[in-house]
Amino acid sequence: MELWDAIRNRRSCRKFSPQPVKEEDLRKIIEAASWAPSPANNQPWEFVILTNQEMKGRLHAACLKSKEEAFQKSGWRWLGKYEIDFLLHVPMIVAVVGDPAKTGVDQFLADTRDGYKYACAAAIQNMLLMAHSLGLAGLWYTLFDQKTVKGLLDVPDDRTVCALVCLGKPEGEPLQTPRKPADEIIRRID
Ligand SMILES: Cc1cc2nc3c(=O)[nH]c(=O)nc-3n(C[C@H](O)[C@H](O)[C@H](O)COP(=O)(O)O)c2cc1C
Repeated sequence: MELWDAIRNRRSCRKFSPQPVKEEDLRKIIEAASWAPSPANNQPWEFVILTNQEMKGRLHAACLKSKEEAFQKSGWRWLGKYEIDFLLHVPMIVAVVGDPAKTGVDQFLADTRDGYKYACAAAIQNMLLMAHSLGLAGLWYTLFDQKTVKGLLDVPDDRTVCALVCLGKPEGEPLQTPRKPADEIIRRID
């Protein structure tokens, strides 16, 4: 698949067919993730693969709670209507776990230590693009409570679950999401 096609036509998917993700496809997706850039090439990531139905059920229950909490705090109406049952039906969830100790030079220049998160974000985008090129679709899911999900997935306290990446064959049409035109987002300093 051509790069532009993958970038332009990848869309977030929130409805999946039950067909399992093939092991060879998963391998390609994780390998694509591993080729993302990272600070000083420290590769601050680990990928936890989940296909177990009981675990999906537990994650779904935890995420429902977080969604309700976010709705109460924000009052955003769309959040009240936002359905997350796809977490129960998606064939595979990959938890992308970042290591905050593996940040970059940013630790000496600021107190944000965000380098590892940027690297994980790049890895996630590579995963989504590779999934798309294999005829799969994905979702970068973050509406969860860090502590609860770490507990469920046995992730050590000193790591961060950057995202739950849902993967599978898409069902139905994805939501079309417009973009701002380039002229609106470019600022030139000549
Ligand atoms: C950091 C980040 C967090 C996101 N979290 C969620 C999420 O929790 N639930 C969800 O449905 N989509 C989530 N998304 C997906 C966005 O809603 C989606 O990318 C955006 O609406 C643009 O749509 P597209 O991906 O189809 O182009 C997230 C995306 C990013 C980059």
